[in-house]
Amino acid sequence: MKNRKKWGVYLMGVVLAVHTAGCGSTEPPAGNRSEPPVSDEAEQNGVGNQEDNMSAEDRAQMETADTDGSNILIAYFTAGENSDVDVVSSASVTTVDGEAKGRLRAVADMIQTQTGGTLFSIQTSVDYPGDGGALIDYAAEEQEEYARPELTSHIENLDDYDVIFIGYPTWWYDMPQALYSFFDEYDFSGKTIIPFNVHNGSRFSGTIETIQDLEPDAEVITDGFTVSERDVAGAVGDVADWLGGLGY
Ligand SMILES: Cc1cc2nc3c(=O)[nH]c(=O)nc-3n(C[C@H](O)[C@H](O)[C@H](O)COP(=O)(O)O)c2cc1C
Repeated sequence: MKNRKKWGVYLMGVVLAVHTAGCGSTEPPAGNRSEPPVSDEAEQNGVGNQEDNMSAEDRAQMETADTDGSNILIAYFTAGENSDVDVVSSASVTTVDGEAKGRLRAVADMIQTQTGGTLFSIQTSVDYPGDGGALIDYAAEEQEEYARPELTSHIENLDDYDVIFIGYPTWWYDMPQALYSFFDEYDFSGKTIIPFNVHNGSRFSGTIETIQDLEPDAEVITDGFTVSERDVAGAVGDVADWLGGLGY
């Protein structure tokens, strides 16, 4: 089986990292994207934004990226919003601008601010242990059993979204089992999936390929964003650079 010892050490870090700052509003701010992407070819031809002269590929790109964010969903799973303790008391928390939140939620907020997309918290009927050690053991058992935790939050209007950012922590070198429930529930055919991740050394750990296997008819962007749990609070610039590279 996997290296439990390493994650025992990790657990000590988790317990020590609990923050006690207050929790803030979940109201998403308005989007700020205004300029559509222009393809290199279009720029070379001097056609700028004249849609009539665009290739089908460019047009498709505009349809997905050139919006006020209304076609973008930012789904994320964080232990802090799936715990039997409140998010502030959870081991799975970081503090950004004085606000305590789950780490994946912190990155999701950064993506939301830049893209104007809609936040969606993946939630389950499981109350994951707030205690780091108990969570480590619980997650290991879930993975060994190929569990599919029951989802209690559901995307109501999937047709409205062309682009789905999906954020998750690395758990035992894989996605949390709740993500498998999530991909079981939805068919993202024809949509663009953009993964983002927080880890403690393993980075994506092969999970982007797993997502492509689970959603074979979606376009899964392999240039996902991944950040160490220690660097989340200061990641806003890196997130912005990454999004800029993708045309957002
Ligand atoms: C159950 C569990 C298993 C984990 N397994 C790994 C792992 O295999 N590799 C890794 O780099 N980090 C691992 N971590 C660290 C998490 O990926 C990291 O703490 C992440 O920030 C958690 O996200 P959250 O705080 O938003 O829930 C694990 C954390 C937990 C709680």
